[in-house]
Amino acid sequence: MIESEQITDDGGGQGDPSTPAKPEQDTIVMVGLMGAGKTAIGRRLAARLGLPFVDADEEIEAAAGSSITDIFERLGEASFRDGERRVIARLLEGPPIVLATGGGAFMDPETRARIAEKGISVWLRADIETLVRRTSRRQNRPLLANGDPREILERLKEVRYPVYQQADIIVDSLDGPAEVTLQNVLDGLDTYRAAVKS
Ligand code: S3P
Repeated sequence: MIESEQITDDGGGQGDPSTPAKPEQDTIVMVGLMGAGKTAIGRRLAARLGLPFVDADEEIEAAAGSSITDIFERLGEASFRDGERRVIARLLEGPPIVLATGGGAFMDPETRARIAEKGISVWLRADIETLVRRTSRRQNRPLLANGDPREILERLKEVRYPVYQQADIIVDSLDGPAEVTLQNVLDGLDTYRAAVKS
């Protein structure tokens, strides 16, 4: 099912090809655990940078014609991961976007390498309390459905945070207004770009 996925290229962000690429034209990839705010901050970041926002999970759902929960149930996690890898690879080949990835995507070495090659990764780091609270609002995450969500998130944190650490930019996902975290991401991008240029 996921094999037949077709990603609609929603364009945008491609200026006059004769003008040199502006730094704003990199694809920005949001990374982090479930509930870190990848979609909420990613949307705001895209609006601020004038780039389209794309949520990888939504793309996978559209490609498979079913929800993430259904994909996990009917096809299994391995199949979901295959689809996720392919969808993200395709999106990274397209025009610049802000891309929110699912929490497991950056754990895949191939995906990580592609992101490093094609984009700038931003890890939204959050504490367990914040993640538990935010993820409790919706029941759409199969990994949290079979057990105590706090324990599961703690386990995932142990395994994933050392890998998320490889992101280009690390920003704490704060509990206050999204605008504050957004500004920290924008500042992180400026610092990162200045460091890469020098
Ligand atoms: C997952 C995170 C989810 C989704 C899937 C698996 C994970 O995305 O991709 O349920 O492995 O952490 P969000 O991080 O956007 O909730």
